[in-house]
Amino acid sequence: MTYSKRFDGRKFDEVRELEAKVGIIKRAAGSAMFRMGKTVAIAAVYGPRELFPSFLQDPKKGKLKCIYDLLSFSVTERKRPGPSRRSTEISMVTVDALEPVLDLSKFAYTGIDIYVYITQADAGTRTAGINAASLALADAGIPMKDLISSVAVGKISDKICVDLTKEEEDHPEGATDLPVAMGTRTGQVTLLQMDGNMSQEEIKEALKMAKKACEGIKEVQVKALKDKYKEALK
Ligand code: CDP
Repeated sequence: MTYSKRFDGRKFDEVRELEAKVGIIKRAAGSAMFRMGKTVAIAAVYGPRELFPSFLQDPKKGKLKCIYDLLSFSVTERKRPGPSRRSTEISMVTVDALEPVLDLSKFAYTGIDIYVYITQADAGTRTAGINAASLALADAGIPMKDLISSVAVGKISDKICVDLTKEEEDHPEGATDLPVAMGTRTGQVTLLQMDGNMSQEEIKEALKMAKKACEGIKEVQVKALKDKYKEALK
């Protein structure tokens, strides 16, 4: 059997409805919300600020840190509150996805903290979180070479699809999930993970789809940043 029509009626290369807003947490240096369909991520950036524990302080560069958490009420199944192996992994890959566009040598001895919380989860939370975190860093005025945009592509049955929902990830014939993050201006891929199996050809096709999707995501991110300043000028 093939997956000929997506459960939610989207085209195979179509991302879910996107929504972005920056400056949602006034006390933070920068903050943002990014929604992809029913997946909602909020991110807050604090710093550059004094780094603790102090042995982590580096005279050559600042340290980017991230805490990602999927909040218990974000999923319908029971989810134990607090950190897990999964949240530790996602926190780590979020730092790895964002660090390449920052010049941390400007922030010696200090730390930049990113907090990413998922308030509603329907697959693709690491990608929504990275999109929100990238916006929050920009909102905090941290110099960046590019915004990072992120989406998961995957294979359901024999079809390559973009931005999978949880229902799609749980397809009875199995699904492969390939989260990608990139700077669309530089073309630099900063996150590439895969859960499942795909051939080289399928990965190439999926990456092409991811690039196109990330270009659309970036437009939404840029608009959110511009909207904040439009509001401020009113
Ligand atoms: O969220 P993402 O796709 O980046 O990572 P995942 O580990 O592949 O999780 C896929 C989805 O499973 C999440 O987005 C949630 O919708 C769901 N999930 C859950 O319901 N309970 C958990 N403890 C972890 C994930």
